[in-house]
Parts: sequence; C-alpha cells; structure tokens
Amino acid sequence: MKIEIQHVKKNYNDFEAVHDLSFSVEDGELMAFLGPSGCGKTTLLRMIAGLIPVTSGKILFDGRDVTTLPVQKRNTAMVFQNYALFPNMTVSENVAFGLKIRKLNKKEREKKVKAILEKVHLLEYYDRRIQELSGGQRQRVALARALVLEPDILLFDEPLSNLDQKLRVSMRQIIRQLQKEYKITCLYVTHDQEEAMSISDSIAVMDLGVIQQIDTPQNLYFHPKNAFVSDFIGKTNLFYLSKQKGDGFITFLEKQISVPAEAIDRGQVIISIRPENIRIQKLAFGIEARVRYREVLGLITRYHIETTDNKEILVDMISNEENEIYQDGEKIELVFDEGAINVFID
Ligand SMILES: Nc1ncnc2c1ncn2[C@@H]1O[C@H](COP(=O)(O)OP(=O)(O)OP(=O)(O)O)[C@@H](O)[C@H]1O
Ligand SMILES: [Mg+2]
Repeated sequence: MKIEIQHVKKNYNDFEAVHDLSFSVEDGELMAFLGPSGCGKTTLLRMIAGLIPVTSGKILFDGRDVTTLPVQKRNTAMVFQNYALFPNMTVSENVAFGLKIRKLNKKEREKKVKAILEKVHLLEYYDRRIQELSGGQRQRVALARALVLEPDILLFDEPLSNLDQKLRVSMRQIIRQLQKEYKITCLYVTHDQEEAMSISDSIAVMDLGVIQQIDTPQNLYFHPKNAFVSDFIGKTNLFYLSKQKGDGFITFLEKQISVPAEAIDRGQVIISIRPENIRIQKLAFGIEARVRYREVLGLITRYHIETTDNKEILVDMISNEENEIYQDGEKIELVFDEGAINVFID
C-alpha cells in the first residue's frame, strides 16, 4: 500500500518536532529513516500509525485520506525496540492476541500462528513463556505478532537496537526476506546506518525535523546532496574552504578542483572526500603529509594524517602487512583522484 505524507507537521505545545514533511513510500517498498536522536523519527511513525494526531497536513494510504482515521482502522502494525510483548503469556498466546480481538475462531488462529512462527523459526517455542526467551527470540515473536495480522503497512522503530551486532545482522536478513515475501510497505527507523543501507530500497536522512535527502543507499553514499548527508552516511573528510568569489575552482592540497556553477559566487565551499578515496605512498615528489597514528581496524587500516598546512585527514587502506611500512610520525605523500571529491555549498 502506498503511503503519502503531505505537509505533515507536529507541534508539542510551542515546540515543532516535525516541520512540514512531504514524501511518499511506494507499495511494497521498504524505506529506512535515519537521523540523529530527537529529530522526529518516532513522532512520524506514531502519526502514520494513528497513535498521535498530526498538527497539520495529510496522510494518504493508496490515495485515501486517513489523517483522522483511528488507529484500529488503519491496518498498520508496529514493532518496537522494547518488544512490547505480554511477558506472562506464551509465544503463541502473544501472536494470537490480535487475531482473538479480530474474532477468529480457535482453529483458524492456531493455523495462522503456527504458519507465522515457522516463518520466523520459532515453531518449537510455541508454548514457551516470553520471560524464558532471549532478546533475539523476543523480537522474532514481536515480528510474528505484527505479520500475523497481515498489515498493509509495517512500522519499525529501532527494532534491533537492543540486540548484539551479530544478532542484528541475522535479524535484519529475516526482516528483509519476510518483507519482500509478503510485499509489505515498510517504514524502518534506525540509528544504525549500515543496517539502514543493507535493508532498504531507499533511505530518508532526517535532521532537525527536516528530510535532507531521500535516495537509494548507493546514491546517498556516492552522491550526497549536502555536507550533513555526506558526513552522516559513512565516514568522510570535510573541509570548509574560503575562495575568491567568481572563481570556478578552488585549490585543495595543491590541486585545482572545479566547483559547481552555483558555488562560483560563494566565498566558501565545502569539500568532502572519503577516506577510502585517498592513498598513502612513500614520499617522493607528491603532496607531502605526516602520519600522526594509525588504527588497524580489521579489514581496513585507518591512518590519521596531518598535512603541511595542518589539516587532519583520515585515510583508509585495505589492511595488509605492507601497511606496516607507514609508521607513526613518518613523512609520506597523499594521492587522490579529483573525481572522488564532492563540493557543496551547504
Ligand atoms: N509527548 C511529547 N511531548 C513533548 N515533546 C515531545 C514528546 N514526544 C517527543 N517530543 C520531542 O519531540 C522531538 C522528537 O522526538 P522523537 O521521539 O520523535 O525523536 P526520535 O527521532 O525518535 O529520537 P530517538 O532517535 O532518540 O528515538 C524531541 O525533541 C522530543 O523531545
Ligand atoms: Mg525514537
């Protein structure tokens, strides 16, 4: 089911938590919402679910205005960070709860509960109490409880934040697989950008109640629209450089970088270059710099570099034993391709 958000705002008394948001999520699409704490992600989900009213604007499901429709008439389901299960009930009682409210008979309930528990690999826990489950198992029960109602829209609010890294990776695969199988439209809020990138068709990057960019994970990474997005998605080196107004280029580390047309009349531009787009090599006749220190992070080794004009730059190189040749304090040279640089005006 397609979701359209049209000029939606939310005020809590004098405070505007969500400013004039407009976007849409296509039928069967999974859109992730990524943004710093307090930027309005939970507020947005709660408005879509109908748990809190909008201050102004409209919400449409498949073109139908649902802005004032009560929560139980929207056919959405929500999965939370803290599971929100009934701790004293069994797994099957939790999953069957919503079906009971919908007045399905016992036989139908059992059939649906078993089928969905099988999907989340929990059939053998049918009679287990929630208190006797691990965090990952609890979150699979919560997912089953949401899916069993065959919602048109599934809303996730940081569902994996309480789980450890390995479990988060396997859970996100389960969620994505089921979402595709059932073709459910999903909005998925997370703090974890790797999770957002791995699970979604598109990502909305939010800051201060405003969407900064909505795009595919790939485009957000390679073609961020502004400095905030380039810094928020992945790691980057950002430099605020002043320049001569009217110039179509800027000098960065001894190279002339051309700037976009809209930046020509600016006195300042922002340059972004990702750590993996710079290389270090033995000092010869290139751009001289110095290794402050390095961190071996596993797959990559991250070098903290200081340039001759006192800029700090991160450089990521694939780890191999040859990396050992660049020692703390060593003078080296930097190599990069101008094509890998993004220039922004804000
Ligand atoms: N009931 C409320 N009354 C007043 N202010 C609220 C209320 N709920 C949320 N807020 C404020 O609205 C803003 C957005 O809150 P929200 O919970 O949507 O943020 P979030 O993006 O989900 O943050 P987090 O990532 O920490 O969960 C915050 O500044 C918060 O303090
Ligand atoms: Mg939140």
